[in-house]
Amino acid sequence: MKATAVANANIALVKYWGKRNDELILPANSSISMTCGGLMTTTTVEFSEKFEEDSVTINDEELAAEKDAVVAFLDLVRQQAKTRLKAKVVSSSNFPMAAGLASSASGFAALALAASEAAGLKLNEKELSILARRGSGSASRSVAEGFVEWHKGNRNDGSDSFAESVVKADYWPEFRMITTIVAETKKKISSRAGMSQTVKTSPYYEGWLNTVDADLTTVRNGIKERDFSATGSCAQQNCLKMHATMITTKPSIVYWQPATMEIIHSVLSWREEGSECYFTIDAGPNVKVMCLDKNEKELRKRLEMLEGVKKTITCRPGDGARLTDNHLF
Ligand code: DP6
Repeated sequence: MKATAVANANIALVKYWGKRNDELILPANSSISMTCGGLMTTTTVEFSEKFEEDSVTINDEELAAEKDAVVAFLDLVRQQAKTRLKAKVVSSSNFPMAAGLASSASGFAALALAASEAAGLKLNEKELSILARRGSGSASRSVAEGFVEWHKGNRNDGSDSFAESVVKADYWPEFRMITTIVAETKKKISSRAGMSQTVKTSPYYEGWLNTVDADLTTVRNGIKERDFSATGSCAQQNCLKMHATMITTKPSIVYWQPATMEIIHSVLSWREEGSECYFTIDAGPNVKVMCLDKNEKELRKRLEMLEGVKKTITCRPGDGARLTDNHLF
């Protein structure tokens, strides 16, 4: 009863921000992301009578906060598989935690596949996405390849809230996402806490909800037509609208640092000069820059020359979660 799975991180072009059900992790709006090829988490899970309690090791460390979330997730799998066996979980990611790349997305997608397989459940992609969602909303999208839409669903039990590919990983191979890692001076508020506070207090949250469907249509069509200008400009605007709801939350949530602003202004002026690129930012200071392969090298060089940028990582549309025989123990 041992299985190992690999899943990639993902970055949203149309963001998920706000829940309609906190326990089941049901989103208030649908979202669209790119699964980031090469930014991987590998997780091995074994259920066995030989374990007296669950053990969780992530990147060679046993962290209490993460352990609670993983054990709660294992309980869901045990419930579905009708087993009481305890588990050993070992997980490792090949990208820095500081990248703010929602390691919870790749983490819970890999955990969902490894744990369900190890427990003898044979889930299809939709069922797997629904399970991964219970760990972290964005993890529902890391299950699928390429560009992915997470349908918010309408049912109260969450059975129609899952993600699936809009197009496969090889559909738009020229698309690039350059992640910049900048210095962070303050500890950030988690996405979970931040979005809950936004829903409760931002006067702009309604405006967010009222316009997100139009963005979903624009980005979905932009991806299908491989229209970089339509996709990138709408994704950038969507990110700014999300941050407007964050900034107007009480107390205010400002994830941006000086380096974040430096990159925003640089992207805007580089685009005016003719290198087409757009930015998107999640619940942290790092900026992700979208471009096409023909501009990637030059943009990456320019980004790395900015004072606040410590490092960049580039990725292209990647695979969904999959099983492997390379067990971590
Ligand atoms: C800003 O998926 O981390 O990155 O469901 O509470 O675990 P929980 O939140 P999480 O939120 C991600 C928020 C975001 C936007 C996005 O990825 O769509």
